[in-house]
Amino acid sequence: MDVINLSGRAAVVTGAGSGIGRATALALAGRGADLAICDVDESGLKETADRISGLGRRVLALKVDVADAAAMQEFAERTYAEFGRADVVVNNAGIGVGGNFVDVPIDEWNTILDINVKGVVHGCAAFIPRMIEAGRPGHVVNIASMAGYFAAPGMSAYSATKFAVIGLSESLAGELDEHGIGVSAICPGIINTPIVRSSRMYGEVGSEAMREQGARAFARRNYTPERVAQGILKAIQRNRVVAPVSPEAWAAYWLKRLFPGLMRVVMRWGMRRQAARNTQAS
Ligand SMILES: NC(=O)c1ccc[n+]([C@@H]2O[C@H](COP(=O)([O-])OP(=O)(O)OC[C@H]3O[C@@H](n4cnc5c(N)ncnc54)[C@H](O)[C@@H]3O)[C@@H](O)[C@H]2O)c1
Repeated sequence: MDVINLSGRAAVVTGAGSGIGRATALALAGRGADLAICDVDESGLKETADRISGLGRRVLALKVDVADAAAMQEFAERTYAEFGRADVVVNNAGIGVGGNFVDVPIDEWNTILDINVKGVVHGCAAFIPRMIEAGRPGHVVNIASMAGYFAAPGMSAYSATKFAVIGLSESLAGELDEHGIGVSAICPGIINTPIVRSSRMYGEVGSEAMREQGARAFARRNYTPERVAQGILKAIQRNRVVAPVSPEAWAAYWLKRLFPGLMRVVMRWGMRRQAARNTQAS
C-alpha cells in the first residue's frame, strides 16, 4: 500500500498513549491520515490525541482494553461511524513480562497472552472483515519483536507471545493478499520507551538493581520509537511480512538463520557473564 500521502485515509493504532504506538500514530497523521486511537491509559491517550489534532488531523480517541473482544468490536464500529473506513490498522498495544520460566506465575502468562496475543487477534477480528468488505487496498501491522524469532533466556512468556504474533501475521498475509491487504509483523530490537520500567519482572531479574540496569541499557542504546515508526511506514510501503527494525534486530534475524548454533553459544556466554556480574554486585 502506498503510504507516501495518506490524506483522505483513516488509520487505527492500539496502545497509542505511549512509546511506539504514539510515535506511529503521529507519523501516520504526519502523512495526512485521520486517526482512531485507543489505550487503557487515558492521560497518555489524551496527549497523543492533542498532538494529532495539532497536526490538523481528525482523531477519535477511546479508552479500550485490547484484551476485551467486545470492546474492540465497538472500537471498530465507532471508527467506521466516524471515518467510514480503516486503511491501516496497527495492533501495537503490549506489555512486558520478564523472568525465568520457573519464577513467572501462571496468572502472568494469562495476562500477557490476553494482551499481546489475543489483543492482536481481537484487533484483526474487529477490523479485517470490514476492510475486506470495503474492497480497498489496506495494511494490517502487528507489532511483534526481535524476541519473536530470537528467544533469549529469561523471556519465555514475552517471547512466546511474540512468536505467536509473527505466526499469525505470516498466515494472515497469505490469506489477505487476494484482497489487496498487506500484513506486516514488525520486529523492533531494543527501543527506548517506558516499557522497560513498566514490565513485570520475576526472580533475579526482578530486583530493583537489575531493573535499573536494564533501564539504563535501553536509555544508552537510545533507539527512539520515532525511528520504529519510520520503519513501520517503510514495511507497509514495501509490503514486507516480517520486518526487523534496528541493527540488533537485523543482526539477530540473520544470525538465527545462518548460524543458529553460534547464537546459542553467544547466549550462554551472555548468561554466564551476567551471573558473574550479579555475584560480584551482591
Ligand atoms: N520497547 C521495546 O524495546 C520493544 C521492542 C520490541 C517490541 N516492542 C513492542 O512494541 C509495542 C509497544 O511497546 P512500547 O515499547 O511502545 O511500550 P509502552 O509501554 O511505551 O507502550 C505500550 C502502550 O500500550 C498500552 N497498553 C498496555 N496494555 C493495554 C491494553 N490491554 N489495552 C490497550 N492498551 C494497552 C499502554 O498503556 C501503553 O500506552 C508492544 O507490543 C511491545 O511488546 C517493544
